[in-house]
Amino acid sequence: MSDDHDHHDGNDDHELRVSKIRDGTVIDHVHGGQALNVLAILGIDGTEGEEVSVGMNVPSDRLARKDIVKVEGRELSQDEVDVLSLIAPDATINIVRDYDVIEKHRVERPDVVEGVLSCPNAGCITTGDEPVTSRFSVLEDGVRCSYCETIVRDEIASLIDT
Ligand code: CTP
Ligand code: ZN
Repeated sequence: MSDDHDHHDGNDDHELRVSKIRDGTVIDHVHGGQALNVLAILGIDGTEGEEVSVGMNVPSDRLARKDIVKVEGRELSQDEVDVLSLIAPDATINIVRDYDVIEKHRVERPDVVEGVLSCPNAGCITTGDEPVTSRFSVLEDGVRCSYCETIVRDEIASLIDT
């Protein structure tokens, strides 16, 4: 008899693809193909010695294929989680301490994101010399600049201010 647990994606030893971390954050249930964008949002490119494991397109029960990102020694800010939610709306954020998951929550899509994305419109007031903080409203399928109404659906990760 089978019950529908979502426990076939990494818990069984023979299926574990990336090793457990000690202290840090596991970003799980990222849609397949988005892991590199997750790393971009977190500003991780490996040049600073960050200890990171990535699984791409691994089988999952909840999603057809998922990506998973494990970052040792780091917990994420709310701003980072807000931006992650735009490209990984079904992600689970797991905080790990001393090998245990001490906190787990689904990301939530905020209604607006301020100061984290830059508008791709060169004529937008937020991209000029005047210090105007960017502001985007979050749509079902993208984001819209609150100042110039430019809508971005794909490549949201490329708008991230770093
Ligand atoms: N994990 C990890 N290192 C740890 C503990 C957990 O890398 N020290 C990873 C697990 O491999 C898993 C995720 O963090 O991918 C969540 O762990 P856990 O809650 O134990 O797994 P599940 O119950 O399968 O999670 P969910 O129900 O969210 O799918
Ligand atoms: Zn704009």
